[in-house]
Amino acid sequence: MHTPDPLTPDAADRVRVAVVGTGNIARFHVEALRSMPEDVEIVAAADVDPDNLERFTDRYGIADRYGDMDRMLREARPDLVHLCTPPGLHHGQAMACLSAGATALVEKPPALSLAELEDMAAAEGAQGPWVATLFQHRFGSGARRVRALVESGELGRPLVAVCHTHWFRDQAYFDAPWRGRWDTEGGGPTMGHGIHQMDLLLALLGDWTEVSAIARRQARTMETEDLSLGHVAFANGAVACFVNSVLSPREESYIRIDFERATVELRHLYGYGDNDWTLTPAPGYEEQARSAWAAGESGVSSGHSAQIAHVVAALRAKEPPPVTSAESLRTMRLLAGVYASAAQHRTVTPDELRRGAPFHSRMHEGGSPW
Ligand SMILES: NC(=O)c1ccc[n+]([C@@H]2O[C@H](COP(=O)([O-])OP(=O)(O)OC[C@H]3O[C@@H](n4cnc5c(N)ncnc54)[C@H](O)[C@@H]3O)[C@@H](O)[C@H]2O)c1
Repeated sequence: MHTPDPLTPDAADRVRVAVVGTGNIARFHVEALRSMPEDVEIVAAADVDPDNLERFTDRYGIADRYGDMDRMLREARPDLVHLCTPPGLHHGQAMACLSAGATALVEKPPALSLAELEDMAAAEGAQGPWVATLFQHRFGSGARRVRALVESGELGRPLVAVCHTHWFRDQAYFDAPWRGRWDTEGGGPTMGHGIHQMDLLLALLGDWTEVSAIARRQARTMETEDLSLGHVAFANGAVACFVNSVLSPREESYIRIDFERATVELRHLYGYGDNDWTLTPAPGYEEQARSAWAAGESGVSSGHSAQIAHVVAALRAKEPPPVTSAESLRTMRLLAGVYASAAQHRTVTPDELRRGAPFHSRMHEGGSPW
């Protein structure tokens, strides 16, 4: 049961945070939270695996530990719960957090389907609690700078883009019981790996209007695809091609946008800093492009810390924390469009992916078609 700490006079102002799921990714969350002690208090952790829970809470000095998330919600009464559990649990756990009055910050993918994520969005309150998705690559200064340039038009219109996730995951990686299965991960590299770059592409270029894709299981033994690729068109007129692969021994995450007056590129792997972005001006626009680029934000690497700082600041300001459910629904709708297009061998638009339609309540229909 929570009892206020009389030695910490500002405790009432701090965001009370709990971490649920104490496996691989949870440490990035807790390390970010520990870097902002004036803003947050880590009140509890929960996991059904007692070994993971003990190792994690011992390491980070978290006294209140629970084997059951619902009991943790009742007793620790957090304002914010970081859901670092396998994707198949996100919907049920986020709904439980919202019912208990806590905002849920959900690791990607936020749900297994559009239907699940729409449920979660519908359960939010206008004044909170809310659902936010962890998409950390939106929050480096490079991405914010490019977004500002798209909005200001200083580099001209974005015309053509490339969005590649070439990662490598061997067969042993898919031995984890929840990976590579429709009912626990929701998809393969489209939902689990390329989702980061696909989300970043959408954050930079805005609403999408149509997608055409293929998906394959080329080399891994798993239920879902191990590769998807295709092209997507945007409301602003830009078009992009994308690859989501876990089969690529030379790993790279790559985004490129050719504007009328410059090419902007990002090359990284699992996170970027300012130096991972480059600008190549078009002939005749050297000075204009370079000064527009130099005027943008700088100094922030992408990563959990960058996003979690924004989430905590939003909660303290009583505003919906990023990435909001509306924004993550747009990304999930594109991923559903990739699966729908690949399975049906045709171009798909966002309007088709509505409640009751195929690919709305799951990312696959009638087994794996490839
Ligand atoms: N943002 C990123 O860069 C990034 C990177 C890796 C993983 N992830 C995402 O983070 C999530 C977790 O991935 P992971 O690699 O840490 O997985 P993991 O298997 O290492 O850890 C999951 C933890 O959840 C616990 N758990 C399972 N059922 C539970 C329940 N009912 N209640 C409480 N705890 C429960 C497990 O015991 C385990 O400790 C996934 O959604 C994954 O896609 C995000």
